Amino acid sequence: MDQPSTIKPANGKLGILMPGMGAVATTVIAGVEAIKAGLGQPIGSLSQMGTIRLGKRTEGRSPLIKDFVPLAGLDDLVFGGWDVFPDDAYEAAAHAGVLEKDTLNAIEERLRTVKPMKAVFDRDYVRRLEGSHIKSGKDKWGMVLEVREDIQRFKEDNGVDRLVMIWCGSTEIFLEPNPVHNDIESLEKAIKENHTSIAPSMIYAYAALQEGVPFLNGAPNLTVDIPAMIQLAKQQGVPIGGKDFKTGQTLMKTILAPGFKARMLGVRGWFSTNILGNRDGEVLDDPYSFKTKEVSKLDVLEYILQPELHKELYGDIYHKVRINYYPPRGDEKEGWDNIDIFGWLGYPMQIKVDFLCRDSILAAPLVLDLVLFTDLAQRCGWGGIQEWLSFYFKSPQAAPDLYPEHDIFIQLMKLKNTLRFMMGEDLITHLGQEYYD
Ligand SMILES: NC(=O)c1ccc[n+]([C@@H]2O[C@H](COP(=O)([O-])OP(=O)(O)OC[C@H]3O[C@@H](n4cnc5c(N)ncnc54)[C@H](O)[C@@H]3O)[C@@H](O)[C@H]2O)c1
Repeated sequence: MDQPSTIKPANGKLGILMPGMGAVATTVIAGVEAIKAGLGQPIGSLSQMGTIRLGKRTEGRSPLIKDFVPLAGLDDLVFGGWDVFPDDAYEAAAHAGVLEKDTLNAIEERLRTVKPMKAVFDRDYVRRLEGSHIKSGKDKWGMVLEVREDIQRFKEDNGVDRLVMIWCGSTEIFLEPNPVHNDIESLEKAIKENHTSIAPSMIYAYAALQEGVPFLNGAPNLTVDIPAMIQLAKQQGVPIGGKDFKTGQTLMKTILAPGFKARMLGVRGWFSTNILGNRDGEVLDDPYSFKTKEVSKLDVLEYILQPELHKELYGDIYHKVRINYYPPRGDEKEGWDNIDIFGWLGYPMQIKVDFLCRDSILAAPLVLDLVLFTDLAQRCGWGGIQEWLSFYFKSPQAAPDLYPEHDIFIQLMKLKNTLRFMMGEDLITHLGQEYYD
């Protein structure tokens, strides 16, 4: 991607369209409204709270990221989306049970105005859900046209200038890449023929890209991680990104594993288990949806530890991930990790992590950052995969001949250097020799 000669200003309103208005989406919407009303801080959001060092350490320049790059402001965001349930954002947020009633009641009026459009939905792709608020069109191409109309109508009704779509819907069943995904022509043919390799999430994504709207994928579904969508995004000059928000246990994993590797400590086994009781947990209780999540969660260690380069340290690692649906927990997941490591002369040690986290509280700031940075990329004229946003994903999309970067510290450096590059500032290498000349 070239350095932009100019970045279009963030004038006017930015529409955020979310297929799937459940726990994560409503925590984003309610969170932004609560922050605007002075009821809380955007904690966890790099775009809102993070700073970026510019120039030498002696220069003392560390502005807030939001003051350094031209991002849309929270007051300019307009939310919309689709769901298989007709509940407005207030009802859906109350059902999700993430935020307290007092907070929701204080912003009820705003939340009531966000009503989902009818969903593109097929139970073959999410087996544990049954909804009534779904489009009646009988074929997949017809659904594409309906979603395109929804996007156009939303834009007009709300007077928004730009849009970003971000999948916050349920995890679909595991789909293998299929030859129909290989180029735009075969993808379009497959949609027209109602091919089983076209999941509902792909219908939203295809419609978005055709409308010139960037698409991000917060679930581990295949969706835009196929050659045809990558080509389409490039052709349309529209950013794409995915997949699967990096929160909870995987966030911990990508913080710890780079540390072990940095110190050349061996890892013999990593057993991860989770209990959660929200709707996401219920959907993931289906082995077909769990398989999609499992693949996304397992890759992380392989890429960070590089067993092919360090056989004696990581060549024999046993890595297991489980998710159990346990209704009493709601959104307040518990993730346990038992890590068997070894040190000098092979002496074994153990680390136990018990993360009592809140899934949607961790995911909401990622959605906000992703949307704001992707809109920025769009205004820089950067179409296609946005590797610099790997920081936010469990299973980051990368060019087909590249391995994805999972180490959160490298991801952060990549993100900040991309912002510096965008704004024509010197990149920071952390070499630091010049201070000692
Ligand atoms: N919360 C996290 O920390 C986290 C982390 C990584 C990934 N994710 C993923 O984000 C997604 C959302 O998580 P959540 O906790 O909000 O789940 P949720 O079940 O509360 O919300 C998902 C919503 O999507 C809707 N939906 C399903 N299929 C749809 C379709 N085809 N069109 C429109 N709506 C559809 C469901 O009705 C539901 O309301 C899940 O796929 C989850 O795996 C969440």
